[in-house]
Amino acid sequence: MVAYRIVSGMQPSGRLHLGNLLGALENWRTLQHEHECFFFVADWHALSTNYEDTHQLREYVRDLLVDWLAAGIDPNRATIFIQSRIPAHAILHLLLSMITPIPWLERNPTYKEKQEHLEGRDLSTYGFLGYPVLQAADILLYKADAVPVGKDQLPHLELTREIARRFNHLYQAVFPEPKELLTEFPKVVGTDGRKMSKSYQNTINLSDPEPVVRQKIKTMVTDPARVRRNDPGNPEVCPVFEFHRIFSTSTVIDQVSQGCRTAEIGCIECKTFVADAMVARLAPLWEARNALLANPQRIDEVVEPGCQRAQTISQQTLEEVKTAMKI
Ligand code: TRP
Ligand code: SF4
Repeated sequence: MVAYRIVSGMQPSGRLHLGNLLGALENWRTLQHEHECFFFVADWHALSTNYEDTHQLREYVRDLLVDWLAAGIDPNRATIFIQSRIPAHAILHLLLSMITPIPWLERNPTYKEKQEHLEGRDLSTYGFLGYPVLQAADILLYKADAVPVGKDQLPHLELTREIARRFNHLYQAVFPEPKELLTEFPKVVGTDGRKMSKSYQNTINLSDPEPVVRQKIKTMVTDPARVRRNDPGNPEVCPVFEFHRIFSTSTVIDQVSQGCRTAEIGCIECKTFVADAMVARLAPLWEARNALLANPQRIDEVVEPGCQRAQTISQQTLEEVKTAMKI
């Protein structure tokens, strides 16, 4: 197998939840064993939508790092760093902005969608339009072969390739065109049955202590047709059952499925089973989190060498870029 160089980033825009763990993080954890990985906190990207209120930004950056490490992202295998510590990201962003036609950015589907979606925020900013150019800089600086992304990020990656191609054509072939490693996100439902998402306030966070997790599961919606204890239910339409599918053993899944349809098992009991399974899965992560929080300088010890390595590599690429552009 050929090892790739892989780059991926996450925005520090709040607490990570189960959807992030099962989607991105566990995928990263696998990739770090097979490839050369660069994982970074995209704090400048977080400013593109949250520029007005930054008072929690530093805290979110730290939280993100704590969650990554607790989830098993290993600084001995992956280079972990913070975007804003590496000036080359900003410099390459500027240089690439010179060759990126505005219509490429305006036709980006996430641009219009988010602008309409995040009402109450003025997103007619230069930084927001240029978001994908910064992302291209993040990726191209490390000459990534591949980028693990969810479906929503595919347009950004396509744009990265277009920008790379344009640069290579105008000046010199400096950048490889990165391909996507599409992460098949298992769709994780939230406590209200919709997709788990911070904006719906239906998340179970990695930082939630056990009693909070249990309480959130207790108040989760179930099959709405199952009103009374002896009404039979349909697990296929119940979000609790989706958690069973992720966390429970096949024996429990069969038991619950059967017991729900025949009303032999009540929702309270069913939820206790899923809470137990979830708690068992999260317990090692909580333990690692608490150890890190008790020993916060450990986070700096990890990030420092990561930033240094990122700094060296990005600086090298930047020199090639400058030579190619004759500046
Ligand atoms: N745009 C990505 C997201 O919102 C975050 C990101 C920034 C990123 N730079 C990146 C992802 C570079 C992959 C590679 O999820
Ligand atoms: Fe959902 Fe479980 Fe209740 Fe069935 S028994 S409706 S699967 S919570």
